Amino acid sequence: MRLLVTGGCGFIGSNFIRHLLATRDDVIIVNLDKLTYAGNPLNLRDIEEKLGGSRYLFVRGDIADSCLVESILRDQAIDAVVNFAAETHVDRSIADPAPFLTTNVMGTQVLLEVARRVGLARFVHVSTDEVYGALGPEGKFVETTPLAPNSPYSASKASADMLCRAYFKTYGLPVLVTRCSNNYGPYQFPEKLIPLMIMKARSDEALPVYGDGMQVRDWIHVLDHCRGVELALMKGTPGEVYNFGSDNEKANIEVVRTLLAILGKPESLIRHVTDRPGHDRRYAMGFEYARKALGFTPEISFADGLAATVAWYRDNEAWLESVQSGAYRDFMDAWYGDRR
Ligand code: NAD
Ligand code: TYD
Repeated sequence: MRLLVTGGCGFIGSNFIRHLLATRDDVIIVNLDKLTYAGNPLNLRDIEEKLGGSRYLFVRGDIADSCLVESILRDQAIDAVVNFAAETHVDRSIADPAPFLTTNVMGTQVLLEVARRVGLARFVHVSTDEVYGALGPEGKFVETTPLAPNSPYSASKASADMLCRAYFKTYGLPVLVTRCSNNYGPYQFPEKLIPLMIMKARSDEALPVYGDGMQVRDWIHVLDHCRGVELALMKGTPGEVYNFGSDNEKANIEVVRTLLAILGKPESLIRHVTDRPGHDRRYAMGFEYARKALGFTPEISFADGLAATVAWYRDNEAWLESVQSGAYRDFMDAWYGDRR
């Protein structure tokens, strides 16, 4: 199978490429990535060295560039697209929504349109539980839960999901949508909760917890998510939506306390700061359908996964340094400067 993976230099995309190339001899991957602040070719340096030019090809470019996308699909005889490319950080979408629409909505539409034009056999679009909005204290999201996004990020992802649906219904494009809960694991950019808190705690800096810290997220290890996307790619039915989760709801404050305990750091580092506007209170993912239809079962416990993630960041300080560009520091200073 010849695959185009978009956004493969980001957190989940790079884990997905590494996983697929390690477990399937029959897969050849072209990785199309724009290398935004969140995209890092270092994430796949070992793959480039081992398999570059044979089973792996990196192309720097934008999913919204239809000529480039069409030439890749045709020249590389691509069988399937897996679309991870996106602007992904909720806080950045609050500060400046425009790039979220350009990439997540318009970029996805370009991919769908070119896929339609060339008669692509399969298209997996990677989405998020955030499109469903927020839950009260009870219940879980299922695939039929109405979409009710609350942030510019989730609104842009919901729009892309709707375009996928429209391309399936209108043109019969064989597109599947996957929706996953919050991921953690190696190579996650240190603006998201878990790597940010690990990084700050390791250098004895204050840990900024939004509001009361009682917001709930449903954490899944990135490798379990990658296995889910692989199942959808290989076995899923076009037109369907598959939720992936790990039955692992935690309040943010509990996650932060657990990280401090693993790192042997004091809870006095915790600072409650001004809450994120429109902050979703609780996410919880129901994934019975993916379990039944695809045989999806998450395998990594939060305790094991979190300990391994902390160890990975400890062992990869050079990576952590390398991703903190001037632009990254400027955003962090401005965002957290306003929340003291
Ligand atoms: P990330 O921010 O780490 O990586 C995104 C990647 O996309 C980067 O490599 C970036 O350079 C690339 N990119 C951005 N705009 C591009 C464009 N216009 N053209 C080509 N490449 C572009 O994101 P992630 O956490 O790995 O998320 C990947 C996907 O999974 C996203 O679609 C996201 O919505 C979805 N998702 C993420 C989570 C999570 O917890 N991180 C959960 C569910 C779903
Ligand atoms: P995040 O990793 O940004 O993912 P998402 O917003 O997509 O769920 O945040 C996870 C949770 O952690 C969310 O409830 C917001 C909270 N949070 C903080 O309390 N402090 C922070 O500095 C960050 C980045 C997040």
